[in-house]
Amino acid sequence: MFPFLGKTTPPKVNIKSVDIKPTRPESELVQLLKQRKPQVIPAPNKPITVAIIGAGARGGGYAHYALENREWMQVVAVAEPVQARRERLAQTHKIPKEHVFNDWRELAELPKFCDAVFIATLDSQHYEPAIAFANLKYHILLEKPMAPTLQECYRITQAALNNQVVFAIGHVLRYTAHNKIIKQIIDYGVLGDIINIQHLEPVGFWHFAHSYVRGNWRKESESCFSLMTKSCHDIDLIAQWMDSPCVRISSFGNLSHFKREKKPAEAGTATRCLDCAYEEKCHYSAKSIYLEPAKRGQKMWPISVLVDVVDIESVHEALRSGPYGRCVYECDNDVVDHQVVNMEFANGATASCTMVAYTEAVCVRSTKIFGTKGQLECDGMDSIQFSDFVTGTREILKPSTITGMYDMRGHGGGDFALVEAFLKEIATESSRNGASDAFNSHLYVFAAEQARRTGTVVNIENFKQQNQINSI
Ligand SMILES: NC(=O)c1ccc[n+]([C@@H]2O[C@H](COP(=O)([O-])OP(=O)(O)OC[C@H]3O[C@@H](n4cnc5c(N)ncnc54)[C@H](O)[C@@H]3O)[C@@H](O)[C@H]2O)c1
Repeated sequence: MFPFLGKTTPPKVNIKSVDIKPTRPESELVQLLKQRKPQVIPAPNKPITVAIIGAGARGGGYAHYALENREWMQVVAVAEPVQARRERLAQTHKIPKEHVFNDWRELAELPKFCDAVFIATLDSQHYEPAIAFANLKYHILLEKPMAPTLQECYRITQAALNNQVVFAIGHVLRYTAHNKIIKQIIDYGVLGDIINIQHLEPVGFWHFAHSYVRGNWRKESESCFSLMTKSCHDIDLIAQWMDSPCVRISSFGNLSHFKREKKPAEAGTATRCLDCAYEEKCHYSAKSIYLEPAKRGQKMWPISVLVDVVDIESVHEALRSGPYGRCVYECDNDVVDHQVVNMEFANGATASCTMVAYTEAVCVRSTKIFGTKGQLECDGMDSIQFSDFVTGTREILKPSTITGMYDMRGHGGGDFALVEAFLKEIATESSRNGASDAFNSHLYVFAAEQARRTGTVVNIENFKQQNQINSI
């Protein structure tokens, strides 16, 4: 039941679904949210021209936007060392030979010839191209995380600001229909003052094994710590929703399971699933994560990460000799598999964020936001439950219906919505401060990790001073 201030008995709570049947009248909140249509911006006279730096999973995905929105975006160059990826992207987008490169450095040696670059190389390869292309005055969409060290993030931010380029970070979750609606509801003030946020990032047991035990984000020295690589999105959302600077932060977390001492005895000395006596019982069997789905005809992620051309033989060979066939208890991973973060904000509000590997759900976040006049709850992207303490009503809001965003491909539609927002900023020559926002949420993530390592509460101002970070 709701706490109704000043009332001895709580009024009856009506549960109503506001969008499914057109005959049902829309609530005031839904009407308000629907009125707030995004400004229609006409497509530019000619498409915004883009070079893709790193034609892997993310670079290829962003590039696809151009195929469906030709009046807005044209991919005119690619830099990618892996031949199959480079050629596939070049052919798909009909890129002339002179603009197909093995390495971003070759592209950066030329005078600027297009409007923007999408930098989608791996985390440790963001810093150099981001600085180089900012200095060449390219607008930049840089995949998250910005970079693995605070100083690199700071320098990238300064380069983007000093060169006055449009800069977007791959915080795609900000752009999903449901997160946009959450932000609007907060901004309308119907929740009153936001006092507390609880946020859970359930990574998914097999997804964690894929990316953070066997895969590219398993080892801090090769990418970054897991709060940054997995949950910088989530800290960014909390920071955006709170809209007040974070002042103090604490954190705990460990690598609890994916290590040798947790290896089941039946697995013996096997270091690969293909050779393991325990494989059929193991929740993390590479055969069940990759080979069985490939046999059923699946070709997409995560199998597409193992091989450029998916067929049973090549997946089998990847499990025999590649990193994704390794026993999860015998890898060289060192990033934590669960972490909690507590945040205090300048306005006195608090937030907690949990990232955990051991979940059935794969990245289907759940969030509760508590304000002085109401609360929001969502588990996944399909609906948001809004409880109004004042009227005693509870509404189920359907973000897709309200926003008209039904395309849920790529992070619930966030990937393409981010690209769209970035292109619109270029077309309208608007905001040039995306970098500062992105920097601040990265700063909080670095501070949280410092708190976890040192077992202390980190004061953000002191942390900035210690790291010689001036306000930006
Ligand atoms: N926004 C999100 O939600 C999200 C999701 C997943 C990954 N990411 C981030 O996206 C980035 C890319 O991840 P991915 O899964 O696409 O990785 P990937 O390995 O599939 O792609 C990276 C590509 O960069 C290429 N590359 C390496 N050196 C290069 C060079 N010198 N010049 C040009 N290209 C070069 C690689 O060959 C590879 O094809 C990472 O930083 C990752 O953390 C973001």
